[in-house]
Amino acid sequence: MDLKFADRMESFKEGIFTTLANIKAERLKAGKPVYDLSVGTPDFLPEKHVMDALVEAAKVPENYKYAIVDSDEMIEAVKAWYKRRYNVELEKDEIMSLYGSQEGISRVALTICNPGDIILTPNPGYPVFSMGPMLNDAKIVYYELREENNYIIDFNSIPEDVAKAAKAILVSYPANPICRLAPKSFYEELVAWAKKYNVIVLHDNAYSEIVYDGKTGISFLSVEGAKDVGIEFNSLSKTYNLTGARISFALGNEKIISQFKKLRSQIDYGIFTPVQKAAIAALNGPQDSVEKNRKEYEARRNAIRDGLESIGWKGLVSEGTMFAWAPLPKGYTNSHDFVLELIDKAGVFCVPGDEFGSLGEGYVRIALVKNVEEMKEIVNAIKQSGIL
Ligand SMILES: Cc1ncc(COP(=O)(O)O)c(C=O)c1O
Repeated sequence: MDLKFADRMESFKEGIFTTLANIKAERLKAGKPVYDLSVGTPDFLPEKHVMDALVEAAKVPENYKYAIVDSDEMIEAVKAWYKRRYNVELEKDEIMSLYGSQEGISRVALTICNPGDIILTPNPGYPVFSMGPMLNDAKIVYYELREENNYIIDFNSIPEDVAKAAKAILVSYPANPICRLAPKSFYEELVAWAKKYNVIVLHDNAYSEIVYDGKTGISFLSVEGAKDVGIEFNSLSKTYNLTGARISFALGNEKIISQFKKLRSQIDYGIFTPVQKAAIAALNGPQDSVEKNRKEYEARRNAIRDGLESIGWKGLVSEGTMFAWAPLPKGYTNSHDFVLELIDKAGVFCVPGDEFGSLGEGYVRIALVKNVEEMKEIVNAIKQSGIL
């Protein structure tokens, strides 16, 4: 049979993580060292009370039915968490669950855009910020994030005609991959800009609990007027080390949430009840592990930053997220070539910056997924390799 596929399938190439995983497997087979700082899966465990809640709920046969809706108990837990954590009041109709923010961001444009409608998205940015709208047949227009602005959006750089035509803008701080935070004043500017041009704001807040140097992450929804213009995605993946459980929320503007719920009700029959129970336990339970993990990420950031600096690779920055963003060392210009050489000579895996957009060229993203001692070992491996 002559199988015919959609044209869009032509636009996908093998992902960088598949390429790196293949090289990693070959190296391991050959007994060569591997230090994997490429993928951003936390190496911390979920808290016991969270796993217990999931396990107990998984023993109840009734819980294997379609959940259909978010339980009132989970909605209350989310409301209380947003109030406690960000001083943001939310109503039931302003909250919905998702199978992870990735899933939400990959579909939200279906509720907002007709084919060809513009969504503004960051360059460099987390891949689903462009892939999601693209899969929904929206038109992607990139806005630039530049180091000289500390990677904060310069609204003056978005042409007036583009702003007027845009349906939505995807924004995310603390930002993966560029690891910068945005001050509250930025969000005030964002809300004013969105109102002026009638653009929906979609803010991804996956890392508000992983920020460094004494700062505290904020919610876009804590800014006056934010709920008039948009929604926020907030995931339990990194905050509570629940990446595999797939649970996150979209919160904010009631009209956007109700449209998105309507769309998802055609696709999905609700989050597995034991996962809802785990989310409730995580949100309502003791929060000390959140601070413990944050501190450990910060110690790792310090170890890799100071270590690399001491051997002559300067400029690594991370104000937050579980990653760091580093310019290529002197003498290198192509991030793919550098990453392959770093693997070959030192066994250290990270992600070439241009995987996140053209403006990521000249940088690499390093995941903070090894402890302080391992980070020191990695620095030593890089030093010994002679690559610098
Ligand atoms: C910025 C950002 N948003 C969303 C996600 C995915 O979150 P989830 O596990 O909720 O799909 C990630 C995961 O790395 C991320 O870095």
